[in-house]
Amino acid sequence: MPSSTAPAPTAFFPSPETMDVLFSKEEIAARTKEIGTQISKDYEGQSVVLIGVLKGAAIFLSDLARAIKVDNTFDFVAVSSYGRARVSSGAVKLIKDIDNPIEGKHVIIVEDILDTGLTLNYLRGLMLQHKPASLKIATCLDKPERRLVPIEADYVAFKIPNRFVIGYGMDYAERYRGVEDIRIFPEDAAH
Ligand code: PRP
Repeated sequence: MPSSTAPAPTAFFPSPETMDVLFSKEEIAARTKEIGTQISKDYEGQSVVLIGVLKGAAIFLSDLARAIKVDNTFDFVAVSSYGRARVSSGAVKLIKDIDNPIEGKHVIIVEDILDTGLTLNYLRGLMLQHKPASLKIATCLDKPERRLVPIEADYVAFKIPNRFVIGYGMDYAERYRGVEDIRIFPEDAAH
């Protein structure tokens, strides 16, 4: 949207600079590089398919892919979103499936955040039906105390407490995805 028509920050959409930084862009870059190095070791001599979960994972996937030194390709899926609500509705629905077959391939699902686990639990089941050679999960953030279903990621950049965060792909009502740091969205700005 042209800046002239962009809504001005309000109490409900406060400026990101006013929010506390949980992880700086430098800390995120360093951890992403470490995870990329680990994945490169784990899959040495092999190819991996990175499947990003739109939209939040797009930025982490783009950085992670560049940190992975083994041959890799991308695909994306989209599932039903929480929308404006900040908690999971519990219902997960596939909106966009993978474009290319993954049978016999080494697959890593890439997420921005593992929260209740409902999304990844659903996607893991769905991807396993395609009979990949292996299936792992990489997530930028993990909020273990929010888990409703037992699922863990194989690669986690940061474990975090139960705070609502924005930036580095993560939104509040579709805003703030392009914020470079991961910041804590103020509870009193939500409604
Ligand atoms: C977020 C995030 C994960 C999901 C995790 O997506 O990207 O896909 O929630 O939550 P869960 O573990 O409780 O299922 P969201 O629905 O906000 O959509 P977005 O990626 O488009 O922001």
